[in-house]
Amino acid sequence: MELLEKIRRASAYIEEQMDLSPRLGIVLGSGLGALAEQVKDPVVISYDDIPHFKSSTVEGHSGRLVIGMLQEMPVMVLQGRLHYYEGLSMDQVVFPIRCMKMLGVESLIVTNAAGSLDAEYQPGQLMLIRDHIKMVTDSPLRGHNIDSFGPRFNDMSDPYDKEIRELAKQCASQLGIDMKEGVYCYMPGPSYETASEVRMLGILGGHAVGMSTVPEVITACHGGLKVLGISCIANMGTGLRDQPLHHDEIIQVGEQVRKSFTALLESIIRSWPKV
Ligand code: HPA
Repeated sequence: MELLEKIRRASAYIEEQMDLSPRLGIVLGSGLGALAEQVKDPVVISYDDIPHFKSSTVEGHSGRLVIGMLQEMPVMVLQGRLHYYEGLSMDQVVFPIRCMKMLGVESLIVTNAAGSLDAEYQPGQLMLIRDHIKMVTDSPLRGHNIDSFGPRFNDMSDPYDKEIRELAKQCASQLGIDMKEGVYCYMPGPSYETASEVRMLGILGGHAVGMSTVPEVITACHGGLKVLGISCIANMGTGLRDQPLHHDEIIQVGEQVRKSFTALLESIIRSWPKV
């Protein structure tokens, strides 16, 4: 079946169950799923039940779509994301974002847990994503272009909307959160980086590294969605620490920042531009 037809069928299934039209999509990263619990009168759909959706196989990712009101904003939250390293194709990884586009979502917030490439970006700190570097060669836009979504060659000069970034900075400052701003490097995983790779990414201009987000952002930009990205720095990158790295540690940091992270996102959503 053609990709566009799969997106239509999945979107139709979701639309049948929802009782509002979501304007904002939110992707919650590793250990950062708690915000979904704040959604009022949620309609919750398991990824398993949606035609052509893949399930999340990673600990810390629930695999549920939550639709409802959050801070007076109709939202569609992906509680748990899909990663390329899970063995999925890029089309499968970004399928939920394409459904969001088809369902009329206008903007996207992406969050993730990331490793630091720079001593100034410490575990527990939040980082507003200013730009990214894609180290994975495969693009979600490779193959037949869906012209009704966006152009064959899409512009990436301002993937993380400048106006929304300013808004996010104001919200962080009002809450007394010391949020950094930096460049996110997308590595394929699932192995963590070597110390040399971490050094290389720092030299290239990166501040944080992770295994997600960029495919979703490229797809959202292609579809004309405004994007905000926030990383939770979960650990120092390999070589900037003397301990081996373990996924449990990353989930734990997500728990530690849960309150401030939720408060920041709620504040940003409250102030989100009305049109
Ligand atoms: N590297 C890649 N992905 C990550 C890391 C890391 O150090 N921490 C959390 N996700």
